[in-house]
Amino acid sequence: MTAAQRRLVSRARRARVRSFAPFSKFRVGAAVETPRGRIYTGANIESATYGLTLCAERVAIFKAVSEGERAFKRVAVVADTRPLTPPCGACRQILWEFCGDVEIVLANPRGRAAVYRLSELLPHPFDASLL
Ligand code: THU
Repeated sequence: MTAAQRRLVSRARRARVRSFAPFSKFRVGAAVETPRGRIYTGANIESATYGLTLCAERVAIFKAVSEGERAFKRVAVVADTRPLTPPCGACRQILWEFCGDVEIVLANPRGRAAVYRLSELLPHPFDASLL
């Protein structure tokens, strides 16, 4: 991993501590980085309805977009799993719409990491260019 990737993973790892996951107990942290190096973080927030749960990735990206950010160069996702936890299908879609073919760093808190492009995780995406 590069220093920039390690820095973003470290922010996602710290965000994960603030996960609200009393139902699944599955804690996830995410961090997104803008081209100018600003970082926004998120953690999964669960609902007693289960279905209204928001994943860490969407919390992070929606925080950033609601603060006015419109471009992203890197996303990190941290969960304590092996194999590493990738974004769910819904998050892949949202990440594609706001980040395009962004770099995705998956990591766990034990030092495992892997780097992908979003197009590897979401081939043949649907987006506004088709509307
Ligand atoms: N979750 C995330 O936050 N991100 C992922 O990439 C996978 C799943 C959350 C949703 C839910 O709170 C818990 O993990 C179990 O699915």
